Amino acid sequence: MKVFDDEKDLLMDHEYDGIKELDNHMPKWWLYLFYFTIAWGFFYLLYYTITDVGMDQHEQYAAEMAAAAEKYGFNDGDEGEAMAWAFETDDASIANGRELYMSTNNLCFTCHGAAGEGLVGPNLTDDMWIHGCSAEELATSIATGFPDKGMMAYGSGARISDADMTDLISYIASLQGTAPVNPKPTDTDRATQCSIN
Ligand code: HEC
Repeated sequence: MKVFDDEKDLLMDHEYDGIKELDNHMPKWWLYLFYFTIAWGFFYLLYYTITDVGMDQHEQYAAEMAAAAEKYGFNDGDEGEAMAWAFETDDASIANGRELYMSTNNLCFTCHGAAGEGLVGPNLTDDMWIHGCSAEELATSIATGFPDKGMMAYGSGARISDADMTDLISYIASLQGTAPVNPKPTDTDRATQCSIN
């Protein structure tokens, strides 16, 4: 192998299968980058582990969930207290419940009919219920949905706040006995009599 004059000093005294090595210095930019990563790693350790100033991913998750619970008004499940569901009867609650029911966000009307008469899902206006008719049971039916029957949690998967859920079940309660046209026949094998009012 030919060795150039200016490489003589750099040539190291070993050779493998004709391959020789030059003792070149690392480029400056590479070294600075290397030192920088060491410094970065040190601050990282200091920030997240030693001083614990920075939030790790679990803390960030908890903080975001708490902020979302605050913003959207739902119970993030950490308070340990289950919501005590109850029906409201004031016009504003019923009107808001109807708005949710008819919204393209929650889609209730697409399966239960615009008047609650039932379509894909059961009639919500009569006193025959498959999963119970207490405020608690209605809220649970809505919150969990019936994925195997086609109803996603909250109808569309879009979470409903506790305040809105109260209005929504109140609206459903207000539909009791309204006898809309074209009611879906009751699933007599599964539904049992249950009166809300
Ligand atoms: C994709 C269709 C679909 C959508 C959207 C949907 N549901 Fe349902 N829902 C169903 C079906 C199907 C059932 C029946 C489950 C069963 O047979 O066990 C059901 C059951 C229910 C029940 C229980 C009825 C009973 O007899 O116990 C309630 C209450 C209910 N839905 C409310 C809602 C509300 C409120 C919304 C909107 C947030 C909604 N659903 C959106 C299909 C739907």
